[in-house]
Amino acid sequence: MSQTRLCSLNDIENGDSIGLVAEIDGLRTSLIVVRQGEQAFVYVNVCPHTGAPLDFEPGQFMNFDRAFIMCAMHGALFNIHDGFCIQGPCVGKSLTPIASEVREGQVWLAV
Ligand code: FES
Repeated sequence: MSQTRLCSLNDIENGDSIGLVAEIDGLRTSLIVVRQGEQAFVYVNVCPHTGAPLDFEPGQFMNFDRAFIMCAMHGALFNIHDGFCIQGPCVGKSLTPIASEVREGQVWLAV
């Protein structure tokens, strides 16, 4: 079980997201963490369209009604639960998921 704690659920407003950097396989990796109630969804902050980070404003990853993760560069929309792109220039591709788990209100890497 990983000992790498990413953040507390309380660091993220329910339905919103934050960005952070964690070491994964020895590489510092920019991550997206989205909170949905007591669950967290974690993805690498790299858009499958061009490889750019998704957030124009640091930590701003959600579309206007927080129903999808959005890339600020060209507006691609991704499902929160699986990172699949449902609209935009990379439709059909996916964000890279990072295995994580929530234990006692803390989000941990599960890799
Ligand atoms: S770089 Fe993300 S939609 Fe183009």
